[in-house]
Amino acid sequence: MGLEQVKIIALPKILDERGNLSFFENQKQVPFSIARVYWIYDVPGGEVRGGHAYKTLQEVIIALSGSFDVVLNDGKEEKTFSLNRSYTGLYIPSMVWRRLENFSTNSLALIAADQPYNEKDYIRNYEEFSALKR
Ligand code: TYD
Repeated sequence: MGLEQVKIIALPKILDERGNLSFFENQKQVPFSIARVYWIYDVPGGEVRGGHAYKTLQEVIIALSGSFDVVLNDGKEEKTFSLNRSYTGLYIPSMVWRRLENFSTNSLALIAADQPYNEKDYIRNYEEFSALKR
């Protein structure tokens, strides 16, 4: 898996004078069956989240509120995606190193994953990740 598989997903946007609405469903807008949703919030200025890859887990990240950068690295190249729309998802396959940074005040990152939390699926050492990608 590499950065070629990473993709921006345009989520449906139901415009309404009463306020807009967006959504995603299993195996439709999100290209897998969702096993877990988690969110990252109250991030102090300058903090960085992530800093790991998953052996098998895939996920979609959405900036529900505010903005942040997702820096992705597949061992060969690095690419930064700035997320700042509540109707745009970023699909990240397994075996891609990620770092989330530049969180704006009150930003809210929503993440849908295809697996429950499992520490054994994490690669937290970049050297180890890089060796596996070679
Ligand atoms: P981690 O995935 O390392 O956070 P980051 O977003 O910075 O990559 O998770 C931080 C801690 O939270 C870690 O001890 C595991 C725990 N955790 C859960 O218990 N369940 C979860 O769904 C997640 C994502 C993390």
